[in-house]
Amino acid sequence: MPGTAAREEYERDLLVQLTRRWGRRVAVKKDELDLDGHFDADLPDFPEHLVPVLSLPGAEKLDRDARRRILSAAWIAYNAKTAAIEDEIILPACRLMLQERIPVRRDDVAVDALHQTIIDEHYHILMCHNAVGVTRRRRDMADVRFAPDVWSVVQGRAAARAGLSGFDRDVVDIAFSLAAETTISGFLSTLSTAHDIQPMNRITTDMHRRDESGHAVVFRELCGSLYRNLDSGQQRMFREALISGLTAFRSADLEPWVAVAAQGGFEVGVDQLREQAAARPVPKRDTGPLQLLLDDLGIDHDLVRT
Ligand SMILES: [Fe+2]
Ligand SMILES: [Fe+2]
Repeated sequence: MPGTAAREEYERDLLVQLTRRWGRRVAVKKDELDLDGHFDADLPDFPEHLVPVLSLPGAEKLDRDARRRILSAAWIAYNAKTAAIEDEIILPACRLMLQERIPVRRDDVAVDALHQTIIDEHYHILMCHNAVGVTRRRRDMADVRFAPDVWSVVQGRAAARAGLSGFDRDVVDIAFSLAAETTISGFLSTLSTAHDIQPMNRITTDMHRRDESGHAVVFRELCGSLYRNLDSGQQRMFREALISGLTAFRSADLEPWVAVAAQGGFEVGVDQLREQAAARPVPKRDTGPLQLLLDDLGIDHDLVRT
């Protein structure tokens, strides 16, 4: 029998608390949402203010139907990006942290938390896929598809790991996924709090966002244990990858918006979008989760520009 002190420490362990409640807490354990039942054909599929092409010159001439098609395509794009983040960045890092060669906390509770996270993330991909399936069918948009590597964040990770191999690349992949897990709640909140849009879209995004608050804790705990086990050179590499991840998550997507605009018969160029993004103030970040994370890792806040 463990002693009282060990028992108390176990009870205080955030991963113990999270993994215990998983079965009652997460989307994959709930009844599936009746997507068609929450679809109202009269409502727009996406908020106009989150679609940069709609503030480019010429957009004011688009009729209602063209604008609606652009909003529907923007919703499809949003889900394609979410699924790409899960599939390309987060899931591979979760699997890496289950490998013996990665010096991360790996007691039974930590392994539980990782498997639960993998199931959640995979389910999020399915949720995106199913929701977009309804949109494609109801809006007659079967052909609107996006490759996983068109997103600036996926390209940013490819750049951060270019030329690396073995353990160094593993460290970069995990640090980059930590940036993703610190940022994704904010990305999902923009839609889960949007009013006057398709209820199906808001609800399904909100279900996803709720799961992510648990993941933020899992990633902070596991990445914290990894970081503390690295030597100083590896720690520097981890910090740099974390910073490039945070930057990549804030950088604008370009090509996907050209494709979205085309759905409304609106021709825009990548250069126009690049100029527009450069002229805009950098979107404000919810720095709370990031500050917590840096404190956990013992990283000086000045090293990561927020
Ligand atoms: Fe997710
Ligand atoms: Fe997540």
